[in-house]
Amino acid sequence: MTQPVAYRAAILYSLGDPARVGLDDSFVWHEDGVLVVADGHVQDVGPAPEVLDRLPAGTQVITLENRLITPGFIDTHIHFPQTEMIASYGDQLLDWLNNYTFPEERKFAEPAHAARVAGLFLDELLRNGTTTAMVFGTVHPQAVDAFFTESSRRNTRMIAGKVMMDRHAPDYLLDTPESSYADSKALIERWHKNGRQLYAVTPRFAPTSTAEQLTVAGRLMSEYDDLYMQTHLSENKQEIEWVKSLFPEQKGYLDVYDHFGLLGERSVFAHAVHLEQEESERMGETDSVISFCPTSNLFLGSGLFDLTSAEQHRIRVGLGTDVGAGTSFSMLQTINEAYKIQQLQQQKLHPLKAFYLATLGGAESLRLDDRLGNLQPGKEADFLVIDLHATPLMKARIQNAQTLFEKLFVLMMLGDDRAIAETHVYGECRHRRDVAN
Ligand code: GUN
Ligand code: ZN
Repeated sequence: MTQPVAYRAAILYSLGDPARVGLDDSFVWHEDGVLVVADGHVQDVGPAPEVLDRLPAGTQVITLENRLITPGFIDTHIHFPQTEMIASYGDQLLDWLNNYTFPEERKFAEPAHAARVAGLFLDELLRNGTTTAMVFGTVHPQAVDAFFTESSRRNTRMIAGKVMMDRHAPDYLLDTPESSYADSKALIERWHKNGRQLYAVTPRFAPTSTAEQLTVAGRLMSEYDDLYMQTHLSENKQEIEWVKSLFPEQKGYLDVYDHFGLLGERSVFAHAVHLEQEESERMGETDSVISFCPTSNLFLGSGLFDLTSAEQHRIRVGLGTDVGAGTSFSMLQTINEAYKIQQLQQQKLHPLKAFYLATLGGAESLRLDDRLGNLQPGKEADFLVIDLHATPLMKARIQNAQTLFEKLFVLMMLGDDRAIAETHVYGECRHRRDVAN
């Protein structure tokens, strides 16, 4: 066993969804707390006087002034190959895919390119305090192999998969039902549950897969335990009409995935901005998951996600940046935009709910809440040291805030990568902000 290390600072973590357990029972807050980490796990946590009293003699205690310790953020939808095309001007979904995304993804046939961008991407996640993500690759198995190799090197818990796409994209990006099955299977055998890595079967979205390929995706899901499935759903109105014309036998967009056995508790659907009532009911019934991607939905002009309706249908919801349609790697910026999307629908997003969505809610969405999402003893030690005084403006505004609620709200409105002082992955510090930058 490694020597435990104790971190003394303010500590905040979630215990449950405020919509289910009530706001007061949804979080733990220690104004002066101690987190004890050993062997990559949380060993102890609590108010400083209590934890220090029971700490083994000689344990190193690191005191962090004006800092807040939280769990690492969890991003439930992002594309690593789109890192270098973030902020591409002008288009909505289908044109944006054709004009910018597909040409960019072509570059990932080259393993060295994929390895370089995967490294940049993972480091950018860590700079922003994101320790776990559900990640799209490209159609190229070698690019996903490169991604998992880079993730293993950093010991980050990542879920990723090779895009399955056999129509309606340029030839240079197409696979076939047979090759997508064989390539996905080989990656599953190599990477699923290899260390902290997990695999997601990844049909891009209904328009780019034939019925044969969606059948194969369903077969893969039935052949392994605990595999994930990730795709896109009802993001854009034109896209929805296109799906209806491609699959006239099905009742609607969600029913296409349902027909091929792709709904379930480890199935994550990005966007779901324009769901029909019946589709929301089916999502709830099958315990399928939505990834709410605020910056992307605004950037591509897709629409306003209805979080309240998802709650009413008891659908698990996580947050996604959806970079490169999303405009920031920062989950703080993502909840900032989520708040505004709620405002536009006359709804509020309480900072504790937003914080839950970025941490434990993400872990629950990914069925990883037995290991991640908060800082209870036994959890994997993926945590952040947040600098509440990261900029002169944040410092002044935080000092002018009275309550935890207010401080958290300031953090979610003004915070970004500058507020992430340190990111710890499985007990190791993997990012420390250089204040000179
Ligand atoms: N739908 C199909 N592919 C994509 C993608 O790469 N990004 C987004 N935002 N939506 C998609
Ligand atoms: Zn996406």
